[in-house]
Amino acid sequence: MGQINREIIEEVRAAANIVDVVGSSISLRKRGKNYLGLCPFHGEKEPSFTVSDEKQIFHCFGCGASGSVFDFLMRSRNLSFAEAVKELAKRFSISLPQRQETGQAKRMRELAERLRHVNELAAGYFNQVLLDKGTGEMALAYLQSRGMGPEVIQDFQLGYAPQSWDGLKRFLLSRKVDLKTAVQAGLLVKKSERDCYDRFRHRLMFPIKDMRGRTVAFGGRALDEENPPKYLNSPETPIFHKGRTLYGLATAREACRRHKEALVVEGYFDLLALYNQGIQQVVAPLGTALTLHHVRLLSRLAPQAVLVFDGDQPGMRAAMRSLELFLREKLPARLLALPEGMDPDDFLAREGREPFALLLEEARPLMEIFLEQSIAEYDGSVEGRLKVVRQVTPMLKLLDSRVTQEGYLRMLDQRLGVSEEVLWAELGLDRTSRVVTARGPKPDRATRIPAWEEEIVRILVHYPNWIPLLEKSSALDNFQVNPWVEVAGLLIKHYQEGGNLALSGLLMDLQDDDLKNVISGWSLESSPWREEAAHARLREYLEGIGSRRRQLQDELKRLREEIRAAERSQDQSRIAELLAELQAKKAALLAKEANDKANLSRGEMV
Ligand code: GTP
Ligand code: MN
Repeated sequence: MGQINREIIEEVRAAANIVDVVGSSISLRKRGKNYLGLCPFHGEKEPSFTVSDEKQIFHCFGCGASGSVFDFLMRSRNLSFAEAVKELAKRFSISLPQRQETGQAKRMRELAERLRHVNELAAGYFNQVLLDKGTGEMALAYLQSRGMGPEVIQDFQLGYAPQSWDGLKRFLLSRKVDLKTAVQAGLLVKKSERDCYDRFRHRLMFPIKDMRGRTVAFGGRALDEENPPKYLNSPETPIFHKGRTLYGLATAREACRRHKEALVVEGYFDLLALYNQGIQQVVAPLGTALTLHHVRLLSRLAPQAVLVFDGDQPGMRAAMRSLELFLREKLPARLLALPEGMDPDDFLAREGREPFALLLEEARPLMEIFLEQSIAEYDGSVEGRLKVVRQVTPMLKLLDSRVTQEGYLRMLDQRLGVSEEVLWAELGLDRTSRVVTARGPKPDRATRIPAWEEEIVRILVHYPNWIPLLEKSSALDNFQVNPWVEVAGLLIKHYQEGGNLALSGLLMDLQDDDLKNVISGWSLESSPWREEAAHARLREYLEGIGSRRRQLQDELKRLREEIRAAERSQDQSRIAELLAELQAKKAALLAKEANDKANLSRGEMV
């Protein structure tokens, strides 16, 4: 599909009025400046889904869904961004420049479409057979014996591949499918140049779907032990790579968004068992270890992951091996270790939902467990200590938060007796240097003292005309709290581009749903400050922060007063102390001024 250029996106955004687009799929009533309806993204009886004509955004005060007209289409119709743009372009008769597709790309796309098509047909067929009174009876009874009812069967389109060499083959022939395609999809196996037979026989069938619900492959569980393997997957095909696919992506997507976490279990049945108990934010790899691609997929589903693994040796080892992947992708991960020898399916059957939910709440960060295990191996010797340090530092280095690093180092200091200073040195880091992280802490709504960065952003969302003030002051250099650094930058960027603030465009640039929600919520609230008050507050912030200088100057003044007092009481050592401090402060002030000047001249050059 590729990139669509920015101008076209802008053109479509300008043409596709969000009120019309949303209004064509749910009914909206005008309420004040905005439109109100029942949220299509969560069940509700009282309308809290708001669409703003003026701001061209939607925002649900119930579930927090929010965004631009594109977001609306992406979520309501499960489209990618590019598809949403295309769809709207079509609806509003905007012609997209046809990118020249190479012959090779075209062949690949068409092949992928054919493979998906035959997989869809097969999924429908297996599902029909399962529900068929005669043929499917045994498989259906098996599912029932494992607690899976009609709802799960439908939601996952479970199926049964009959005990036959050509059940699927004959079905596909009746649908005029070219059997070559079915062989390529791995549904049929070639026997000779002219003959082929069903790969999956007498198996419970799990269609494996991509993020958008399209069937790309199958997993099949043997229904008797005489025919190993227990699980048989489709082979790798142009549309299916085990290392890049997770089972349950389509069913988990919405729940992951809601719960802001994605659970990872090891098996198909584990996933179904959790789903059955209402825990639907869950995916499973297909019998392989987690790969970096898997972790990337997870990070698209939710801002954090929970590994639900067997607490036995291999389970723990697998979890520990994946730690590095999570650190590299900067996806926080916790580990829920089940009692030895139990998978989630067993656990739920034996203990029920509540004990599981408790374990889930108590799941601890993977890193913490890794450190504990490393420390547990420590034998008390000097070499042993070095070994532990060497084992843990590569992981600690990958942490992107200095605060977290510090916490873990303290723990090592206490438990291993290696001082924090030594550990910092081992990490090759200077503990006082400041890190600015790309993915920082979320705006935490529990601690309701907003950072000043947050207040500035909120004021500017209400009064975008003042964005140039932020731009001109040097306050932005002093923004330290994530994610406001990013948002403030975007405010300026979008203001510059549009001459006013196109909020829907800004929301499009934000990845984080929480953040989108907070900002669109602000844009629809009435300003908590009256204009003069907001202006005064903004100036106060910008000036106060724009130059930390004033603060330094105040401190200098205080020091001078103290020195005078010390002179009066003839306290020589106190005087010396204060003078040294004064020197240091002065140096800091000079450095700050030099820095400000440098910024200023850089500003003049552009
Ligand atoms: P049930 O016995 O049906 O509950 O399955 P399980 O998930 O408890 O099985 P197990 O713990 O043995 O396997 C976990 C996952 O590994 C499965 O869901 C499969 O994805 C995969 N797996 C297990 N056995 C095989 C196999 O023989 N071949 C392949 N390709 N994958 C397997
Ligand atoms: Mn099991």
